[in-house]
Amino acid sequence: KDRGEIRVHENLEELSIDLVDYIAEISEASIKDHGAFCIVLSGGSLISLMGKLTEPPYNKIVDWAKWYVFWADERVVAKSHDDSNYKLAKDNLLSKVNVFPRHICSINDTVSAEEAATEYEFAIRQMVRTRTVTASDNSDCPKFDLILLGMGSDGHVASLFPNHPALEVKNDWVTFLTDSPKPPPERITFTFPVINSAANVVVVATGESKANAIHLAIDDLTLPDGSFSLPARLVHPSNGNLIWFMDKQAGSELDMF
Ligand code: 6PG
Repeated sequence: KDRGEIRVHENLEELSIDLVDYIAEISEASIKDHGAFCIVLSGGSLISLMGKLTEPPYNKIVDWAKWYVFWADERVVAKSHDDSNYKLAKDNLLSKVNVFPRHICSINDTVSAEEAATEYEFAIRQMVRTRTVTASDNSDCPKFDLILLGMGSDGHVASLFPNHPALEVKNDWVTFLTDSPKPPPERITFTFPVINSAANVVVVATGESKANAIHLAIDDLTLPDGSFSLPARLVHPSNGNLIWFMDKQAGSELDMF
């Protein structure tokens, strides 16, 4: 089974240069193709690894005005809350360039997790209808230009945690949790049908603590029944590219080493 392209870097500096080069390249290609770049962010260290986008030369070559920023998952808190992925991305990335890109995220702390998921999916549905977000060729899912995912040491991506029923959701693009194993408990998250409909998916993992999950997610293993619920192993774009960006610590348990 093709697990995508694996890019192992010597250190975080090299990884971040390769990552931002790649993002800038997909941004340019998407804008050339359909006039917009629909990029999906996640929380965690990913945002700081993208920091070079706000520095020369990237801050000048990236066409920020054509960016539409989405989140793969979000915590149901106020936008100004320290747990907010929106706030993380705004403070460390989006507000540091001269054009603040448009962002699509319905979260505030006055709605329930369920309402937040419904509103976010509705907003995306409108954008597919108006063709700002490309429609998928073979399903009714959106085809995001680029989905960027971090990965926890338990193998979770977005807010899709091991053995959680959210892993099984097939008919919604966005689902909600009120029992996240990592705080805060109330969250919304993209589902696998949406992740796996994207044109490009990137998983970024760094550090020793991710090594086992990377091995389980990528290597061709005969796993006991049920262990396919390691979420990162379920990332498998049906019609798109998958790239794993990691440092050598995170890659240290891969069969190739
Ligand atoms: C959360 C975290 C989590 C994080 C990953 C990877 O939702 O509780 O934000 O999803 O993004 O664990 O984070 P790091 O790259 O910082 O390890």
